[in-house]
Amino acid sequence: MSKLKKERIILTGATGGIGGEIARLLLAEGAQVGLVGRSQEKLQHLQAKLGSGSTTAIAADITTSDGRQKIVDQMRDAYGGYDILINTAGIMDFTAFVNQSDERIEAVFQTNVIAPMQLTKKVLPYMLKQNKGHIVNVGSTFGSIGFAWFTTYSTSKFAMRGFSQALRRELCDTAVKVTYVAPRAVKTALNSTAVYKMAEEVKMNMDAPKDVAREIVRSVIKQDKERYLGFPESLFVRINAIFPGLVDKATRGQNKVAKKHIS
Ligand SMILES: NC(=O)c1ccc[n+]([C@@H]2O[C@H](COP(=O)([O-])OP(=O)(O)OC[C@H]3O[C@@H](n4cnc5c(N)ncnc54)[C@H](OP(=O)(O)O)[C@@H]3O)[C@@H](O)[C@H]2O)c1
Repeated sequence: MSKLKKERIILTGATGGIGGEIARLLLAEGAQVGLVGRSQEKLQHLQAKLGSGSTTAIAADITTSDGRQKIVDQMRDAYGGYDILINTAGIMDFTAFVNQSDERIEAVFQTNVIAPMQLTKKVLPYMLKQNKGHIVNVGSTFGSIGFAWFTTYSTSKFAMRGFSQALRRELCDTAVKVTYVAPRAVKTALNSTAVYKMAEEVKMNMDAPKDVAREIVRSVIKQDKERYLGFPESLFVRINAIFPGLVDKATRGQNKVAKKHIS
């Protein structure tokens, strides 16, 4: 029997490229899934695409307190609670940091860091009380290797990696597990046309969302602590941690090429 059968899962970013594929795989495992996104229309479309299986559509902005309350309320109404939270929602800018507006810096941090932390805090008391729970944070290779022109996004993913590690250690004597899983670039609408053009010119590896989703769901099932997807990116993560100067040199040329494409 699948380890996820009847598991009650909150999936943020469900209406996105990776999230939609994660939802499909979770349903195939027999899970009960709360699909979170801001647009009711997109959620209805996703539910129709997913077909049979137990889902509940939760139209909520995770950056608002009302939105986070709606998520837990709807999960309680539909399934009596929740066992797993997968923080997938995210936004990104490809720009020179010096030109990025204060509002966008705040929005990226609100969406990618503060909201997932606050949603995690909201679900934790119930998970601790029921003696069962799992927080899964979707990070990025950029959360281990600071990338030029993605400075704010990179910083937000570094924060989520730190949050995941610290929380995992804080909860190690409880029944609540914490997973951080970091894909490399993925072919979704998160990446603008400019990013796709840059990626093509610098020959950046880009994965299909269904392949990435499969690895994320595998990490959910195995309750991995930390996982870095894709080779050689997963090796560069290690090299950057020990010899960042080498990566400075290795990426200098690529960064110059990428600069031509930023908005
Ligand atoms: N694509 C990549 O290259 C890549 C690489 C590594 C890591 N990742 C990470 O993977 C995750 C998913 O990315 P993706 O490529 O699937 O992105 P995507 O296709 O752009 O989807 C983003 C999702 O986030 C949701 N979202 C954004 N702001 C929200 C808010 N305030 N409240 C609720 N939901 C919100 C969107 O929902 P609505 O717009 O429908 O509300 C959508 O479901 C992100 O954390 C991203 O950083 C992506």
